[in-house]
Amino acid sequence: MSDTVSASAAIPLRLRIRDGDGYAEFRVEAEPHRTVLDLLERLRSGGSAVPAYRHSCHHGSCGTCGAVIDGVEALMCLTRAADLAAPRPRLPGGPAVPPERDEAGAVIVTLEPLSKMTVVSGIAVVPGPVFAGIPKGASYLRPASADGRASLPPDPAEAVADPGAWRPDGRVRFEACIECGLCVSACPVAVPFIGPAALAAVNREREKRPEQVSAMVAIAAAPDGVGPCGRHLACSRVCPQAVFPGKHIQLLRNALASLA
Ligand code: SF4
Ligand code: FES
Repeated sequence: MSDTVSASAAIPLRLRIRDGDGYAEFRVEAEPHRTVLDLLERLRSGGSAVPAYRHSCHHGSCGTCGAVIDGVEALMCLTRAADLAAPRPRLPGGPAVPPERDEAGAVIVTLEPLSKMTVVSGIAVVPGPVFAGIPKGASYLRPASADGRASLPPDPAEAVADPGAWRPDGRVRFEACIECGLCVSACPVAVPFIGPAALAAVNREREKRPEQVSAMVAIAAAPDGVGPCGRHLACSRVCPQAVFPGKHIQLLRNALASLA
């Protein structure tokens, strides 16, 4: 059977959803643009006993719908049926391989809960490990300029042309991380480690707030700081927000080296 996906033809899927020690299975015909979350919602509203899952926004901004989809962490609300039917990696950074199909030709899709989290039920988890290492009081707004002051363009027309880039209070946008935990789940480090999301936050605090540099460097230098990171880069590969936690970990290493 071809792995080419038609723009409109329904795609037969066999969803296997972790449910305790086993899997609950469902067959669905999915339009290519439908997401995994759409399909779970459709099944549930149709009365199917779908194992528990988390979600809120449906558009990749709340960070609650993460799952391990066929071996790779992803947001269910951003993973379309067309993606599932196309060749793709089966581990972060791995080679793209064709989808597995059952005897009837349906694409077999397996959903597992994120790793390192406490499973509540089905694939719903408590994401505590994502937040545990993030410094208390970490600021969530990114300054528009390096010194954090207002950065209005000299020509107001520029602000009209690109209103998102200029704010009179010197702030541009929220930090990109949505605390989805995909990076924490994908990270293969198995010793005590505060994890990629926390270290990305630590580095952003170090960059943004000079008064916090000593405290952030101390967190990075602790035994569960940057040391356990093995540069696998699984974190950066699965992050849906292009935070590139691995880059932040390296910047923390550089900061530590400069102080040595
Ligand atoms: S760094 Fe990326 S993958 Fe990790 S929690 Fe934030 S958004 Fe999710
Ligand atoms: S439902 Fe909010 S990120 Fe997926």
